[in-house]
Amino acid sequence: MPSQHDRERGSPLAQKLLIFSDIHLLGDGGRIIGLDPAARFREGLSHALAHHADADHLVLLGDLTHHGRSVQYRELQELLSPASMPVTHLLGNHDNRANFIRHFPQAPVTSAGHVQAMLDLGDSCLITLDTTDPDVEPKHAGRLCRARLDWLDQALTWAGGKPVALAMHHPPLVTGLTGMDRIALQNPDALYDRLAAYTAPVHLLCGHVHRTISGTARGVGFTIFKSPCHQHPMSLGVEGSSQSVDEPGAYGIVLASAAGFVVYSEDFAIAASAATRHDLGSK
Ligand SMILES: [Fe+2]
Repeated sequence: MPSQHDRERGSPLAQKLLIFSDIHLLGDGGRIIGLDPAARFREGLSHALAHHADADHLVLLGDLTHHGRSVQYRELQELLSPASMPVTHLLGNHDNRANFIRHFPQAPVTSAGHVQAMLDLGDSCLITLDTTDPDVEPKHAGRLCRARLDWLDQALTWAGGKPVALAMHHPPLVTGLTGMDRIALQNPDALYDRLAAYTAPVHLLCGHVHRTISGTARGVGFTIFKSPCHQHPMSLGVEGSSQSVDEPGAYGIVLASAAGFVVYSEDFAIAASAATRHDLGSK
């Protein structure tokens, strides 16, 4: 039965996901390029909950913390307390799997120890895939081992031909931001081989790059989300992955339905004048 919120969205049976990626909590009041990641996440989550109180899920795309320390996961627990909807976590290259699991024992963990999940969204599915590998070269890149690829096979079978939003920290594609491309998923062919066998639409939801990017790669749609805190500069063809700029923080909104996925990126850390609405009569 469509809910009041479904009818208001004009998309029967759509589910709304809120997406936050690359939160990078420090746990000690510290700053990254002058920005306080805890304050930025608090502001972003507050904005998201105020404007999207009807959201069905909150999905965190990894780099929850800056160093994977216990104090940083405790800070995440505290900051998430205003969110009443289910929260699904992914890990990134800045996280620590053991520390995360200790502080979030309710998070789904596979028998091989990976933090990933299958969520039934009604007419579509969300699958989250753990791309973090502390032993991969180069450092900070991602990789899918055999256990995770086998699990993905099972998850796609479970999805049963519904549209799939596949969330993963490391993008499996070339963005043109050379420094970040070097630390992307290192074995994308193995992933795309599996997706090619799936008959329904798949849309990738990725983090890691700290920049809003969307498109298609090998016929599969993707969206990469900004961080609520620091962003990667617009540096096509430039080596290095450590450069960051102070641009507005953002979060994502995904409307998931039988038709597929509509994806928004919403800036929240902007001047009040930029957020003021003006009625021009037409666009
Ligand atoms: Fe990050």
